[in-house]
Amino acid sequence: MEGTALRELLYSEEQIAEEVGRLAREISQAYTGEGLILVVVLKGAFLFAADLARLIDLPLIVEFVRLSSYSGMNTTGRVIMSQDLEIPIAGKNVLIVEDIVDTGISLAFLRDRLLERQPKTLKICTLIDKKERRQREVAPDFVGFSCPGGFLVGYGLDLDEELRDLPAIYTVT
Ligand code: IMP
Ligand code: MG
Repeated sequence: MEGTALRELLYSEEQIAEEVGRLAREISQAYTGEGLILVVVLKGAFLFAADLARLIDLPLIVEFVRLSSYSGMNTTGRVIMSQDLEIPIAGKNVLIVEDIVDTGISLAFLRDRLLERQPKTLKICTLIDKKERRQREVAPDFVGFSCPGGFLVGYGLDLDEELRDLPAIYTVT
């Protein structure tokens, strides 16, 4: 895979660092004086969350969930939470940290499952908002980059589990 895919730089390490810094400042301001639970969506958001968490100036708890989609013939979007939170979130400020929103199916599912647990607030932070193929209405509260489409790899984003480790983000063709 790695040998055959052609990649073109989309967001450099410097651009990513700048946006992550901006997001951390926005988030720190939005919750001033309060604590926050980051719900990091594995695996794709692991690098983003690691950088973001270090820059947010708030008392933080970091939790992880893992979502799996049943990839059938079409994308009617059956999603399950294959790894759940380890703590209750009722009455807490919760921020979902996602790598990329595409159809919105995964995030809509996670948002609805977490809302059932009655957090005090539930917001969404995504590094990349890819709007072209949106099927479910999801409006991220904190967005790093908006991009029209394409398939992206690097900085957590994978192509069949490869290329997550690249420090910058590329479009593959
Ligand atoms: P959605 O449910 O269609 O919004 O899909 C979201 C998930 O699909 C993301 O959390 C990513 O893990 C994956 N995904 C969507 N677009 C891309 C991409 O361009 N590159 C790598 N993974 C992607
Ligand atoms: Mg993901």
